Amino acid sequence: MSQLRGDYKTTWNALSGSKQEAYLYVAGYTDEEKFHADAEDTIDILRETVGVRPDDVFLEIGCGVGRVGRVLAPLVKEWIGCDVSANMLKLAGRRLLGIPNTRLQEISGYDLQPIPDGAVDVVYTTVVFMHLEEWDRYNYILEAMRVLRPGGRFYCDNVDLASPAGWAVFEESRKTFKPKDRPAQISKCSTQPEIEAFLKHAGFADVRVAGRLNFWVYGSGTKP
Ligand SMILES: C[S@@+](CC[C@H](N)C(=O)[O-])C[C@H]1O[C@@H](n2cnc3c(N)ncnc32)[C@H](O)[C@@H]1O
Repeated sequence: MSQLRGDYKTTWNALSGSKQEAYLYVAGYTDEEKFHADAEDTIDILRETVGVRPDDVFLEIGCGVGRVGRVLAPLVKEWIGCDVSANMLKLAGRRLLGIPNTRLQEISGYDLQPIPDGAVDVVYTTVVFMHLEEWDRYNYILEAMRVLRPGGRFYCDNVDLASPAGWAVFEESRKTFKPKDRPAQISKCSTQPEIEAFLKHAGFADVRVAGRLNFWVYGSGTKP
């Protein structure tokens, strides 16, 4: 293994040295139209789980190049994109030019330190937990609890180990890489009980955890 998995900043800056590389690591493709369509799908899931309201301040953990933010920002009061990688944020800044209610924030890789307590209505993170250590998934859930206002909502997702396609992801990585050769960003699945335990230990109410499309696990909750 060339890098420590927990050295998120080094890993993700190295994966986003060019626009093309960043897009490929964010989504596996570089087509802007598909970015837009996939963002619409993500926003539909947010609508179903945490709701999307015009007076909401939204914060995304691991926003990448602003795939979701570009489509979501015009629907809400403010969108704050946070990412561990300055390179990703630079590309996001270019994609978000001309959308005034957006803000970008570099973060440490395990907390939301620049964001004040109780400042946000919705925190979400999508296609990010698979790249984190379990402790850091929970660190971010605790931080979401801190930065949300009472009544604020939280959403997260990951690949579900217990789904058929999630199991295939696990097996593919097991067979492909010897332990010392695993890339730092390799995807690691979650399970529904893991996400539920994290949300409940962090103090979220109205916790809902479910599977989707035989691949994803997602969880949501409300700050009491
Ligand atoms: C697969 S991309 C997903 C980007 C975006 N959420 C989307 O769906 O388009 C993963 C993103 O998470 C960021 N990331 C990785 N580890 C992180 C960490 N520990 N804290 C914050 N962001 C992280 C990466 O820089 C990258 O932008």
